[in-house]
Amino acid sequence: MKLLHTAEELGNFRDALQGTVALVPTMGALHDGHIAHLGAARAVAGVDHTLVSVFLNPTQFGPGEDLGRYPRTLAQDLERCAAAGAAAVYAPTVDDVYPPSLPPCPVGPPAVAHDLEGARRPDHFAGVCRVVMKLLQRVRPDVVTFGRKDYQQLCVVQAMIQDLFVPVRIVEVPTVREPDGLAMSSRNRHLDPDARRRASAIHKALRAAAELAARGETDPHAVESAMTDLLHAHGLEADYAVVRHDQSLTRVDALDPARCVALIAAHAVNTDGSRVRLIDNLPLDAATPSARA
Ligand code: PAJ
Repeated sequence: MKLLHTAEELGNFRDALQGTVALVPTMGALHDGHIAHLGAARAVAGVDHTLVSVFLNPTQFGPGEDLGRYPRTLAQDLERCAAAGAAAVYAPTVDDVYPPSLPPCPVGPPAVAHDLEGARRPDHFAGVCRVVMKLLQRVRPDVVTFGRKDYQQLCVVQAMIQDLFVPVRIVEVPTVREPDGLAMSSRNRHLDPDARRRASAIHKALRAAAELAARGETDPHAVESAMTDLLHAHGLEADYAVVRHDQSLTRVDALDPARCVALIAAHAVNTDGSRVRLIDNLPLDAATPSARA
């Protein structure tokens, strides 16, 4: 496996590759959820080579967010990528991706970015769109993977790729979870044992929403209240716990489980008072026999 640090090294490597290429964009601190993307690129799209980018993108973090304490584990990340059969890891510096001599050119974001994460993290999706476009231009992949774990990000990137006619196929990767249902996340390592135990209530609340929908509940407010109550009962602070249309992420008047997704952002508070913000989601038809992942 090759380790590439600069645009030039990446360009030379890419020019020499024969066959189809998948890009797995990440910010590092890799876990099994990230590693599943390599298998999905091969299984779903049959690509010949997989390139993982490891880049902690500063433009998608706002002031006061957790950029400074985001875990950086490049040595372990490289081992995991090599073991999973990656052809290369592109781990550039900030200056390589954002050359100081170039005036910035904002990209997007599309309307689906405006609410939920976009409303709470004002520049977040603009930063995501910009770095994803840069990575796609540099790597020129046939396939790019995005996880359903970050559902709104998946919708935002899909909208951008469609509107800008970017010639790449998106492979959606189902959320990989811990045995108790907690979605794997680089931020889970900030949870102390008590907060870690309570954090599984996020998935419980999402399951409860899907079960209410499966039993015929059509009122979005009833489902949203049930999720919020369950989060509070487990000592989690709900930032939002909502049901939305699964493409536009707009509010719905009545639930159609096949077309709706439940989304949660919640804070788990550690005993020392530090807070960890976690997000997760589930399609509302997840409790029916033909469930989507
Ligand atoms: P990061 O949080 O490192 O996630 C990289 C990719 O892994 C994303 O597509 C994310 O949705 C996916 N992922 C995270 N947790 C997952 C899980 N438990 N199961 C399956 N997939 C999971 O998302 C980003 O980085 C950045 O915003 C990025 C797209 C790299 C742009 O900087």
